[in-house]
Amino acid sequence: MSEKRVPIVTIDGPSGSGKGTVCQLMATKLGFHYLDSGALYRLLALAAKRHGVELENVQSLAVLAAHMDISFHMNKEGLQPKVMLEGEDVSSLIRSEEVGSNASKVAALPEVRSALLQRQRAFAVAPGLIADGRDMGTVVFPDADAKIFLTASPEERAERRYKQLIDKGESVSLAALVEQVRKRDERDMNRKASPLVPATNAVVLDSSEMTIDEVLSSGLEIVEKNGIQPRQ
Ligand code: DC
Repeated sequence: MSEKRVPIVTIDGPSGSGKGTVCQLMATKLGFHYLDSGALYRLLALAAKRHGVELENVQSLAVLAAHMDISFHMNKEGLQPKVMLEGEDVSSLIRSEEVGSNASKVAALPEVRSALLQRQRAFAVAPGLIADGRDMGTVVFPDADAKIFLTASPEERAERRYKQLIDKGESVSLAALVEQVRKRDERDMNRKASPLVPATNAVVLDSSEMTIDEVLSSGLEIVEKNGIQPRQ
């Protein structure tokens, strides 16, 4: 089946907008596959560290991006798929602040982005795909059937991250997190290669004052309006 014939929903937006959770719930609800494209950049950052590849070594990073041995395994509830690198479960490791920050750096390199393009498109198989990222609707799947841009204020996103870290027993300052969120936004929105911007035909949703359930229902409404049917 060609990429065009498989229904694709793209959900782009900054981290902390709630898009990861919404995408996973939507994929479960529709019975579709789920692409966590941010995890690919995180896996590359981790693989580079393990193989001793410097973040300035663009050519080696691109080769690693094209060939790294990775896989995703959905669980029954569809939440938090297991992420494997070279046969090892690295689901928690790739969520560290250090890996996130390095992921943002490698994601700014056009050579890395193009090395990952085909790998991302390969996720578009029947019965359909929910693609989560920054450039899903603009670059990777420009012909997607439904495009959503999910955002929230930097303060709200920092607060969500703060709660997650406190729950994990880490001590962090909220002010420092707001600053970090702003810096990462700045880098993701102003980079030359695939900056974080809504696709022209994306529906923009601001989740600052919404619960996850509300975002999910709005998302599903958009999906339905675009004629996308759940898997039978
Ligand atoms: O969504 P995330 O926090 O897991 O993403 C990690 C980094 O990768 C983040 O800095 C943005 C970048 N990214 C990207 O540039 N393009 C994507 N499609 C997904 C993520």
